[in-house]
Amino acid sequence: MKQLHLKLLMLTLMATSAILQVYANDGKLIIKHLGDKQSIIHLNASGKYLLLPVEEKSGEAKFYVISNNDVVKTINIHLATDKVDYYVPLDLSLYDLKSLLFNVQQVSDSAICWKTLQLSNTFDTSNSEQYRPLYHFTPLYGWMNDPNGMVYKDGTYHLFYQYNPYGSMWGNMHWGHAVSKDLITWKNLPVAISPDGLGAIFSGSCVVDKDNTAGFGAGAIVAFYTSAGERQTQSMAYSLDDGLTFKKYDRNPILTSTIRDFRDPKVIWHKASNKWIMVLAAGQEIQFYSSTNLKDWVYESNFGEGQGAHTGVWECPDLVEIAIKGTTKTEWVLICNLNPGGIFGGSATQYFVGSFDGKKFINESPSKTKWMDWGKDHYATVTWSNAPQGRNIALAWMSNWDYANNLPTSQYRGAVSIPRELSLYTYEGETYLCSVPVAEMLQLREKSSKRKGFKVNASQQVKQQLHLNNWGAYELELNFKNVDSEMMGFSLQNSKGEEVTMSFNIYDNRFVMDRRNSGKTDFHKTFATSTWAPIHNKGKEYSLRIFVDKSSIEIFDGNEKFVMTNLVFPSEPYNSINFYTKGGSYSVTSFTIYKLGLKN
Ligand code: FRU
Repeated sequence: MKQLHLKLLMLTLMATSAILQVYANDGKLIIKHLGDKQSIIHLNASGKYLLLPVEEKSGEAKFYVISNNDVVKTINIHLATDKVDYYVPLDLSLYDLKSLLFNVQQVSDSAICWKTLQLSNTFDTSNSEQYRPLYHFTPLYGWMNDPNGMVYKDGTYHLFYQYNPYGSMWGNMHWGHAVSKDLITWKNLPVAISPDGLGAIFSGSCVVDKDNTAGFGAGAIVAFYTSAGERQTQSMAYSLDDGLTFKKYDRNPILTSTIRDFRDPKVIWHKASNKWIMVLAAGQEIQFYSSTNLKDWVYESNFGEGQGAHTGVWECPDLVEIAIKGTTKTEWVLICNLNPGGIFGGSATQYFVGSFDGKKFINESPSKTKWMDWGKDHYATVTWSNAPQGRNIALAWMSNWDYANNLPTSQYRGAVSIPRELSLYTYEGETYLCSVPVAEMLQLREKSSKRKGFKVNASQQVKQQLHLNNWGAYELELNFKNVDSEMMGFSLQNSKGEEVTMSFNIYDNRFVMDRRNSGKTDFHKTFATSTWAPIHNKGKEYSLRIFVDKSSIEIFDGNEKFVMTNLVFPSEPYNSINFYTKGGSYSVTSFTIYKLGLKN
């Protein structure tokens, strides 16, 4: 009897331990379920990556990387419960494999991730997405939002960006890194700055410390970012290998506050006062600090109350001195991104024009709100530091917080705009920003097809095919003359009946783009919409440069007065264009299509 009992007990134990310990991925992984949605993963073989299966609608799990008994990384990840949307790699080469294990919390024992986890020496990053742009930067995989720390050094444009390497939704903010010689062809580099005990790494900027004011070394790239823990503080890190790796400053954080939204430091060199200036978003205002050594910051002033749009939080500021076109006069432009409360809902970039003396910014038109771009997908815009020949080059994140996490892509999510050269122009006594595509964009033109001019009137619509094996990445150059109609319109169309209409509504002086029937729009209720720009042009001649790149349309006014950026998700590329009018006629004097492509 006693023996039978013992036997039964042993059998139960074995059975229980067989359930507790599971071999996965052909025995390469050992998984121990500990109850209460807690599990441990041990490696039973070696490999470069642990491939983590993600299902975006699953709840968020905590994934702790433990090396030599210490937690060395904490990841929030939507591990797959019912089906695998895609994989993300955890690079194991950064750790000591012998002592490595993973503690996973908040995932049930029956989740599909336990059967689909993989140890692998490779991770496939080849493009698997219909909507991935061709000539706009996107991360190889994972999520991106704001461009960060853009800095030029020794012939290279650096682009850091808000990056989640563990899923294509916002979270786990790192600074991703890419470099370019021409602002068009980007090379992806390893993550530059990773979260730490002070928090996630939110947006910020970089400078080249030519004179070694901080003492890290002459020519060091010094990065400023927000450490986003329970509260937001400002931190710094420096790189002595041209941005490849950063060392965090050992006295971080360098700036603290009791204000909750306190972030996105942009540092510039202010020649006139011989000081560094930090511009910071604090709630719904901008704060200015100064420093001589990049480490110790003195509060100078704030700006914002009663000025511009205030329906949301102010974020990602920038301060740039820009010349007025055709003059030698310069003005200071304070760029200030706002979310929500943008002109078309959600996120948008506003700016103020005025003076800055190293201490205080004075807005020359306090009662006016100015928008930098008239689309719905242009946010977190900042400029390159130290750009050559005094260039002011801005870059935006082409998305909107209204629906950024819902965009219909999965391998990656998020892209940047075309880099834009900034200048100023005046119109009816006001000074405005002018954004044009950087000249480097011309290098993308591969083949072109120029059509003969034609006239459009009420009884004569003109439809043109966009040949050139159009695969959704092209530029259109349009010139209009003798505009004598109330509305001069055209639409990009495909054979599925999807279209994006654009029109100069002369009667109310607006350029309008309508994407309500542009393709996939149902992923968010605010996506199907139209946007408009004021036309600062009193003549009868108009021109446009329109850049299409799979899932984005950027329209640049040939008179250099407005720009409009909107995402679109057509089920096939738009391959024809239809011109029409209301109340009068106009001539299309020239119409050119350029197929755009990267050279390598
Ligand atoms: C703007 C922003 C920043 C913040 C970052 C976090 O899009 O909200 O204010 O630093 O994104 O990812």
